[in-house]
Amino acid sequence: MEKIVALCKRRGIIFPGSEIYGGLAGTWDYGSVGSLMKKNLKDLWWKEVVQKRDDMVGLDAAIMMNPRAWEASGHVEAFTDPLVECKICHLRFRADKSEEIKTHEKSHKPVIVDWTEPQTFNLLVKAYLGVLEGKQAEIYLRGEITNGVHVNFKNVIDSSRVRIPFGIAQIGKAFRNEITPGNFTFRSREFEQMETQFYIKPEDSEGEKWFEYWKQNRMDFFLSIGVAKEKLRFKDHEPEKRAHYARAATDIEYEFPWGFDEVMGIHHRGNWDLSRHQEYSGQDMKFRDPDDNTEYLPWDIETSAGVDRTFLMLLCNGYSENDGKLKLKIDPRLAAYTVAVFPLLANKPELVEKAKKIYIDLREDFYVSWDERGNIGKRYASQDEVGTPYCVTVDFQSLEDQTVTVRFRDSGEQKRIKIDEIPGFISKLINEPRSSST
Ligand code: GAP
Repeated sequence: MEKIVALCKRRGIIFPGSEIYGGLAGTWDYGSVGSLMKKNLKDLWWKEVVQKRDDMVGLDAAIMMNPRAWEASGHVEAFTDPLVECKICHLRFRADKSEEIKTHEKSHKPVIVDWTEPQTFNLLVKAYLGVLEGKQAEIYLRGEITNGVHVNFKNVIDSSRVRIPFGIAQIGKAFRNEITPGNFTFRSREFEQMETQFYIKPEDSEGEKWFEYWKQNRMDFFLSIGVAKEKLRFKDHEPEKRAHYARAATDIEYEFPWGFDEVMGIHHRGNWDLSRHQEYSGQDMKFRDPDDNTEYLPWDIETSAGVDRTFLMLLCNGYSENDGKLKLKIDPRLAAYTVAVFPLLANKPELVEKAKKIYIDLREDFYVSWDERGNIGKRYASQDEVGTPYCVTVDFQSLEDQTVTVRFRDSGEQKRIKIDEIPGFISKLINEPRSSST
């Protein structure tokens, strides 16, 4: 983990937030490479979940909402963690994180730590809106992106041709006043979520069918982006550990360096959200079935993945070390740069000119990295560190016969192809069907 964190900073993948001011715990900034990878992840998720489906539409709701929406959703009352405080140093921890508690107790040895009684701590982040000092409205930054979808349920059915069962997908920032942010980006105070709310008929058989469907669908997505099968598992929530809105809940966990931990959740939310918004807003949130004119509040099967946690899983899954060098094996569709282009020698203008033309032409279709520093070995190693799947080198033979070498990140193999075949060759490689790395 330490090596990955250091590399992420050195190579522009992830930086600590506000670093020059000493940082702000639980915030992270994605750099030139990381922001591209994150965008690719969100784009691919959207393509699979919205673009390629008939039964899903997208939404992009505001982060700031009328605070009544958070009362209705139950977050003001129940979105809490149990907090305990060390009476020696006054650091605060989540009472349900026994490993963190034990590690802290060790730090005070031989003195035995006395803890305060657990108290409930609300995770919603407050903000103040308005221009008049003292008359500003207290609002909440959204603790999950879900609420903006449910409050728009009627708008969506009235403005599109969706019919039950159908879903609404959204990607966006969420904020939580986490008691102990940690494990790099894993538990942050500002993070992104990719969610689907899938509305179904309020029948037990439908609930069971779609809950199982979305569990498997989301697991298959992780496998399709190359996550090792043996490092993924489902973990059902015990009834007492479920969120206040959930009738049933299963996490998909990944084996991080510190053990199996949650990457995403699938929740059967029943009609919790729509019924509460109907009650609190006084607006009718029912769906009228055009086939038989029945009216009902649909149930919701939710899938909710952290963008940052999925990203961290891909880093942990993809990095390997050989002879002290780190290499990131990541799905080519998610890599920051699909291809890198080099002239064999930087001091030969004819090679540089030819390579530059290839670089500029390829930029029409792909993110391309240019490198003319050091020797070819160092350039390959540098591209391996950020996971560039293909490197194209222009050498003296290229001037004779219009061919280049393409070097493959994962196998290290090289192949000679014609310059005008490069775009088609790479498109075919990145779009070929792939499955999990095991
Ligand atoms: N709408 C449902 C919901 O928000 P959740 O289990 O609280 O459910 C869903 O969160 C996902 O959001 C988690 O599985 C995780 O990937 C991500 N997530 C939650 N809290 C996070 C945090 N503090 N930092 C990073 N990601 C977080």
